[in-house]
Amino acid sequence: MTNYTDIHTLNPPQRLLMGPGPINADPRVLRAMSAQLIGQYDPAMTGFMNETMARYRQIFKTQNKWTFLVDGTSRAGIEAVLVSILRPGDKVLVPIMGRFGHLLTEISQRVGAEVHTIEVPWGEVFQPEQIEAAIKRVKPNVLAMVQGDTSTTMNQPLAHIGAICAQHDVLFYCDATASIVGNELPADEWQLDALSVGLQKCLGGPSGSAPLTLSDKCVDWIRTRKKVEAGIRTAAHQDGTEPFIRSNYFDLGMVMDYWGEERLNHHTEATNMLYCASECARIVIEEGVDECVARHKLHGDAMLVGVQAMGLKVFGDIQNKMNNVVGVYIPDEVDGDAVRGQMLDDFGIEIGTSFGPLHGKIWRIGTMGYNARKDAVLQTLACLDACLQANGYKGPHGEATAAALAHYK
Ligand SMILES: Cc1ncc(COP(=O)(O)O)c(C=O)c1O
Repeated sequence: MTNYTDIHTLNPPQRLLMGPGPINADPRVLRAMSAQLIGQYDPAMTGFMNETMARYRQIFKTQNKWTFLVDGTSRAGIEAVLVSILRPGDKVLVPIMGRFGHLLTEISQRVGAEVHTIEVPWGEVFQPEQIEAAIKRVKPNVLAMVQGDTSTTMNQPLAHIGAICAQHDVLFYCDATASIVGNELPADEWQLDALSVGLQKCLGGPSGSAPLTLSDKCVDWIRTRKKVEAGIRTAAHQDGTEPFIRSNYFDLGMVMDYWGEERLNHHTEATNMLYCASECARIVIEEGVDECVARHKLHGDAMLVGVQAMGLKVFGDIQNKMNNVVGVYIPDEVDGDAVRGQMLDDFGIEIGTSFGPLHGKIWRIGTMGYNARKDAVLQTLACLDACLQANGYKGPHGEATAAALAHYK
């Protein structure tokens, strides 16, 4: 039994994380995170905050002034957007195609919204007409949906949804935690009103910061719910005309007042996560956002042809698969947990299990962020091939890396 009173240095095992996220952080991100703290209102700190806002405008392909970070994991970004835009009783439409659509539903319910859902089976995506028909029927204030649902590996096409929302005067919110910079998502061109993400997938960082962007229309709406805390409030501060936001930490109006010119005190910005988020964005901008998406496609496709060459059946509608993750059915004759266990114990490589209706049926294999690399893809394929054979798999052996290498030629 572990003796937790031992004083020892933290020394995590060496792992290659090839699941659906988190993945190994880029070493440049880890170095940026270890920089020393500075004061909350040091001009250097507020300068870094402004610089981070500018960097995420490039990541999101937006001109939105209000592009900033919520401190917390991706779920904090989701909750901040939903609690800030939905008043109790407002109608929200959530198209559900996997676990994270259920999360948007759950958070909207807790916010007190009237939640309407439509569903497709896991492994499929929605057609724009299905969403438009539901919008016409429900007449929601907000459409909340996920772009890349990690639970199913599907990438919901969004190019036409923003125009539909604009036409019906619906605010369009998207959670792109798993898909950002691994798949195309130009926020302005696709008319998103609110978009939130996380760092731990294609952005190559750890979880703990949720970058987001809000359109002017969305900000104007949030401002109608404005509230400034006693203690920092002055006579010049006016409350909004609509009911105030039912969260202090996630009140995006107050968070904007902190990130904006007024620098009104709210939380203490998580300085090292700011460094981290900023460096994640810098690395992608240096590569180019489109080039980063193309790299995820290249290595994601190499993984796909590799698992197919191994004789594994791929889950879901491959045409609409995210570039950065693939689901494969666990062959009947093998024990899925035993294969994953051996990959971790003998090779130090992690691949993902699944949730809900897919639990025990598929593995999810990611190629994202720092790990969207040729060597990581080839090592994972070789290791999976070896572990499948060791666990009684009857399909092809020794084909996977050759197929992936051929793809790279
Ligand atoms: C699409 C999606 N949304 C939200 C989340 C929740 O993120 P977090 O665990 O960082 O709060 C995840 C995590 O995997 C995700 O894939």
